[in-house]
Amino acid sequence: MARALKVATYQLDGEDESLRSALLSIDGLRIAGQWDASVELDGVIRQSRIDVLTVVLSGPSSPKLLERLGSVAREHPELTVIGVGLPNDPELLKLAMRARLSELIDSPVDPERLLQALAGAAEKLASRPSGRLIAVRGTGGGSGATTIAANLAVELAKRKERRVAVVDLDLKFGHVATMLDVSPTHTLAELAQQSEEYDERLLNNALAKHESGVSVLARPRDPENANVSLVKLSAILNALLENFDWVVVDEPGRSDMTARVVQDLADALLLVTQLAVPSVRNASQIIAALTGGFNMDRMRVLVNRVPKKGGVFTAEKVADTLKRPIFCEIPDDWETVSHAVNLGVPVVLDAPDSKVAAAFTRLAGLLEGEASRTRAAAAGADQPPSGKSIMGWLRDRLGRG
Ligand SMILES: Nc1ncnc2c1ncn2[C@@H]1O[C@H](COP(=O)(O)OP(=O)(O)OP(=O)(O)O)[C@@H](O)[C@H]1O
Ligand SMILES: [Mg+2]
Repeated sequence: MARALKVATYQLDGEDESLRSALLSIDGLRIAGQWDASVELDGVIRQSRIDVLTVVLSGPSSPKLLERLGSVAREHPELTVIGVGLPNDPELLKLAMRARLSELIDSPVDPERLLQALAGAAEKLASRPSGRLIAVRGTGGGSGATTIAANLAVELAKRKERRVAVVDLDLKFGHVATMLDVSPTHTLAELAQQSEEYDERLLNNALAKHESGVSVLARPRDPENANVSLVKLSAILNALLENFDWVVVDEPGRSDMTARVVQDLADALLLVTQLAVPSVRNASQIIAALTGGFNMDRMRVLVNRVPKKGGVFTAEKVADTLKRPIFCEIPDDWETVSHAVNLGVPVVLDAPDSKVAAAFTRLAGLLEGEASRTRAAAAGADQPPSGKSIMGWLRDRLGRG
């Protein structure tokens, strides 16, 4: 699959909101990190293998930052460094020239200008491969997020030559490994302690292999010491995306910075609701909280546990309330699902002929369909370039639309 452009932001004097919202509005781009003075810049650039670093230069630290960037440019010649919001000051401009920034853009950031600045980096990407990250998030305890993440991963892995990883980010109570009955020797905690580059060998050592072929990155064993830094998490997810076709992430049900790291990298966020008022209310709250901080085109609403006989609350009503289409419905089948959960066998293997397994197959098919449409669009095949897609922008300018 065509690789998405990985962009990290770096700032010492606070975030530039216009930069973040411009980045969020661009297709084919992933925000791979939001870094500040607490990170060791060289190390995180190396581990996250980003393509572009945007640096906010509007604050009092800009002289110090520009000096630092000179050595970054020398040490990472492949990296595109974009300065944002540099004040119009001759001394600062001189420092910026010396720092050999690839581009300078004004703040507030105009998305079209940012696209233009990113074009060079997008061209360099060529055919470097990348997987798709699917985040699964529940809307209250027991919505079915973990069941869906585990079954979706196994279903995707059934397809020919698909490398799939599933990551348990419910750091305290996650049960992806239990649902798939694997006993990992390493977990996210050990992987996060590594200072080496996250290459294929390191990832293969850390991930447990399920018989379906799915690789499982389990949550830390000790829930009391289950903290993973955001920088490490982002680097691990980025490395997984370079080594797997699909990375399915079982998110914790909280709107915190961990969720933001995952959502910034996600190609699709599956929000799992049920046909119950509290669940839909929570969904509505989550959507409201995400609006402005997330590319909402990537939001997919799922309705889980749809009963055979329609009740007062229907999937159509959920769609009406949330003002979003329902991407996929999964039937309620307590007997089949709980049998599979208790055996530690995913439903799609334990009861492949059940309606609930068919729903997981449909879900995987829908996501595969989206992936191939994105591939086709990136290759300039049968789709017109969309307004704010990097590849579309490039095709327009290069006259290959
Ligand atoms: N479609 C379904 N039909 C019947 N039961 C289901 C279905 N999906 C999930 N369940 C059951 O609901 C329970 C909760 O599911 P799951 O653990 O996947 O939810 P979750 O959203 O991950 O919960 P948590 O908030 O604890 O992380 C499980 O016991 C599972 O067997
Ligand atoms: Mg769960």
